[in-house]
Amino acid sequence: MSELVYRNWAPEYADELVALEHRCFPNVDPDYLVSLGTVRLQTELFPEGSFMVMDGDRLVGMAAGVFVDYDITEPQHSLEEVVGSHGVGNHDADGDWYYGIDIAVDPDYRGRGISKELYRLRKQLVIENGKKGFIAGGVLPGFADHKATMSAQEYVDAVVAGELTDPTLSAQLAAGFHVAGVIADYLVDPTTDNYASFIVWFNPELDQT
Ligand SMILES: CC(C)(COP(=O)(O)OP(=O)(O)OC[C@H]1O[C@@H](n2cnc3c(N)ncnc32)[C@H](O)[C@@H]1OP(=O)(O)O)[C@@H](O)C(=O)NCCC(=O)NCCS
Repeated sequence: MSELVYRNWAPEYADELVALEHRCFPNVDPDYLVSLGTVRLQTELFPEGSFMVMDGDRLVGMAAGVFVDYDITEPQHSLEEVVGSHGVGNHDADGDWYYGIDIAVDPDYRGRGISKELYRLRKQLVIENGKKGFIAGGVLPGFADHKATMSAQEYVDAVVAGELTDPTLSAQLAAGFHVAGVIADYLVDPTTDNYASFIVWFNPELDQT
C-alpha cells in the first residue's frame, strides 16, 4: 500500500465517489446516497467541505458536508429538509454547524484509522471557520441484529454504554461525538427500520455553556 493521500473532492472523481458510496451502503435506498448531482453541487458550492482518500490512483475513502443552521435540541429531521437538494443544496457559508452528509471507507481499508482522519479534517474545518460544531445523522447497521429484542433507543444506549458495538456508531463515538437523539425515518433502510442516531461534536474552542 502506498501512502494515503487526503484531498478535496474533484468533479473528475464523481463516478468513483458514487461507486464507493454504493459499495459502502448496500442496504440503503440509493435515493439517500451521494449521487453524481451531489458531487457536482458539493464541488461547486463547497469543495473545502469534502474529502477523499487515495491509495495511489485508487479511491478508498470519502466524506462530505455543508454549513447550515440547525437547532440541535430537535434531533428529528430528514436529511433533505436540512441540507437540501442532492444533500448539499442548502449550503450556507454563514451557517452555524457543519452537517456531515456522508462518510464511507472501502471495506478493504477499514480499521486503519481512515475515518478518524476524515473526522479530524472536518473538525479542523469547523474550528478554522469558528462554527459551533459538527452534526450528522448516523446509520445504525448493527441494529438489524437487535431490533427483534430492543428499541432503537435501547440499542443506541447500549452502544453508548459500551455493552454493544455498532460498526458505524462505535467509530463515531471513538471520534469524539456524543449522541443527542435517535431519528425515526431518517432514510430508507429496511434492515434497520430506517432509524439513525443524531450525533454532535462541539467546537472545543468556543464557550458553549
Ligand atoms: C464507519 C466507517 C466509516 C469507519 O471507518 P474506518 O476507517 O474503518 O474507522 P477507523 O479505522 O477510523 O476506526 C476509528 C475507531 O472506530 C472503531 N471502529 C471502527 N469500526 C468499528 C467496528 N466495526 N466496531 C467497533 N468499533 C469500530 C475503531 O476501533 C477505532 O477506535 P479507536 O480509535 O478507539 O481504536 C466504515 O466502517 C464505513 O465506511 N462504514 C460503512 C458506511 C457508513 O456506515 N458510514 C457512516 C455513515 S453515518
